[in-house]
Amino acid sequence: MKLEWNLDFPLEASLLSRMQAAADKTLQEEGIPFPCYASVRICGDPEIRALNAAWRKQDHATDVLSFPSVSWPKGTTAGSRPGLLRREYDGEMDACFLGDVVISLDHVKAQAAEYGHSLAREAAYLLVHSLCHLMGYDHMEEDEKRTMREMEERILSGVGISREEKGSISDETLLELAREAMTRSYSPYSHFAVGAALLAADGRIFLGCNIENSSYGATICAERTAAVKAVSEGAREFSAIAIATRNLAGWPCGICRQFLSEFAPDLRVLVTWDDPDGIHVEESTLQTLLPHQFELKGSQNV
Ligand code: THU
Repeated sequence: MKLEWNLDFPLEASLLSRMQAAADKTLQEEGIPFPCYASVRICGDPEIRALNAAWRKQDHATDVLSFPSVSWPKGTTAGSRPGLLRREYDGEMDACFLGDVVISLDHVKAQAAEYGHSLAREAAYLLVHSLCHLMGYDHMEEDEKRTMREMEERILSGVGISREEKGSISDETLLELAREAMTRSYSPYSHFAVGAALLAADGRIFLGCNIENSSYGATICAERTAAVKAVSEGAREFSAIAIATRNLAGWPCGICRQFLSEFAPDLRVLVTWDDPDGIHVEESTLQTLLPHQFELKGSQNV
């Protein structure tokens, strides 16, 4: 699916590619065999509020608005009436126009924070929701609502985004946050970026990246960046850490294993990396990675 972006803000490439993957999956799930496109405007709350007031007579900001090009007869969607969509063929784009999507980045940020997941996950969800509307899905009545939710669920799980209840953090979210953290790595010496997302028992997530130094030895790893942020903010119990790298699996180094074991000897350790074969995820535990960790127990020896 071609997305015609109209952005008010610069957005990270990883977020845009996540949205693109979700859009492609949407068309595929609906079974549309010909090229389609949609325009996607990302703006702030003031603009979406003005659009909501002008088009829906609702004078408040919202997360997403959808303007379908086809007026779908009740009970039909693009998959069951592809002919209606074919009429929207645009020669310049060489694709059929589904309609316009408007998303408020202010709402994306607020909702991602509220649900404890990444911007990319929230933005991809809102885009899928809106594209479903453009294809004729609706949620006014209970049965159509169920159909729309099931469709959204199939699309999102097809691109590795699972439904999350408020307060529960999925592994997928933690991995995505680690990838986000990796983009902030300061690694001009090794050119090896690492990102980490550490999940505290109270539900808070602390992100870290590797921060190198011209002295080399003063470099701090991503895992310890996340851990020092967490402990200095009062978190001392942790259930999982996700670590993101590129081209090879970024299992934590020995110092980081020892450092983390001080607080969470039973920590789950998830690593993700991408290479030409795709995106990989592996899981272990700190107990497995660092048996016999050093501990000062009881009496000292001098
Ligand atoms: N690095 C980490 O961030 N975590 C590890 O567990 C191993 C290594 C970083 C440190 C340095 O900036 C770069 O990777 C190359 O060693």
